[in-house]
Amino acid sequence: MKAAILKEFDKKLEIKDTDKPEVGEGEVLVKIKASGINPVDAKLSHGYMSDMIPHEFPIVLGWDMAGVVEECGHAARTFRKGEEVYAYARRPKLQHGTLAEYIVLPESYLSKKPVNINFEEASAIPLAGLTAYQSIFDAGDLGTDETILILGASGGVGTFAVQLAKYKGSKVIAVASKSNHDYLKELGADHCIDYKEQNVAEEVKKLTDGGVELAFDAVGGDTTKVGADCLKENGRLVSIASQGDGLPEGTNFQFVFVEPNSRELNHIRELVEAGTIKVPIQKVYDLDQVNEAFEQIETGHTTGKIVVTLN
Ligand SMILES: NC(=O)c1ccc[n+]([C@@H]2O[C@H](COP(=O)([O-])OP(=O)(O)OC[C@H]3O[C@@H](n4cnc5c(N)ncnc54)[C@H](OP(=O)(O)O)[C@@H]3O)[C@@H](O)[C@H]2O)c1
Repeated sequence: MKAAILKEFDKKLEIKDTDKPEVGEGEVLVKIKASGINPVDAKLSHGYMSDMIPHEFPIVLGWDMAGVVEECGHAARTFRKGEEVYAYARRPKLQHGTLAEYIVLPESYLSKKPVNINFEEASAIPLAGLTAYQSIFDAGDLGTDETILILGASGGVGTFAVQLAKYKGSKVIAVASKSNHDYLKELGADHCIDYKEQNVAEEVKKLTDGGVELAFDAVGGDTTKVGADCLKENGRLVSIASQGDGLPEGTNFQFVFVEPNSRELNHIRELVEAGTIKVPIQKVYDLDQVNEAFEQIETGHTTGKIVVTLN
């Protein structure tokens, strides 16, 4: 099979022929149609978290995929050959990722793909969609009558966070560059703030009664502190991009690291099929353009999602 191979950290990916994986007990072989690209893919290619996540070269990167079940292993009875599936495919070891024509996964990683979208759109959902879901629902416990501030609202994760918060019935204040405000209004944001031209905390105070109940930081760095400055008394701050060092004493802070969860992915599928969640794709790349896709995600200014197709 063809795969994008990383031979060493800090090197470009190379498209090579490699062995198709063999399905084992409780596992499913999936023919991958598309693989969503996330900032973590580029970070991993530079050795990020290499002391925490075991890895073995050559590495096939990629944690997001949508595809078709090709074979089911012994006792893997949940899916049938030919069924369309999607998954957040982060395994305990970094070696066999989704930037390849095939992958073998334990069946517990897989969910049925939403029927009303194509493979490119479906492959863009799992990592970013689950991150938003676990941050604002599981960790953030967002309530219907609450206001959420989303920092980094126009990116992959923010795009899902805005829509999930509107599904919940909450008020959404979205922070992004001005050029992305129309995009965010279309997704349902109630108010937009331009972090380049406006003081976010001052604007939030004008829009709310003393601040927001929940701030979700998908940017990190100095922006995490901006999130803390926007909280009302007893407000909660959730970040996916910072561990919260240097925040004011007593800040109710949680860091979230997204976990595979096929039950939550099933719920997201229902929301996509109901038309509640849209999956805006900025650009689809061919496998042999994978390094361009990595360059784009490394800009930190992708709007919506980018995807590599394996068709
Ligand atoms: N902990 C986890 O489990 C987890 C999971 C997923 C992602 N992450 C991390 O979370 C971050 C976001 O991921 P992503 O997939 O959403 O990235 P992305 O698709 O690259 O989006 C980045 C977005 O950030 C916006 N942005 C940049 N600087 C900003 C600022 N100062 N204030 C507000 N918005 C700003 C950009 O908007 P403009 O173009 O409008 O500037 C862009 O839309 C990355 O660092 C990623 O590694 C962590």
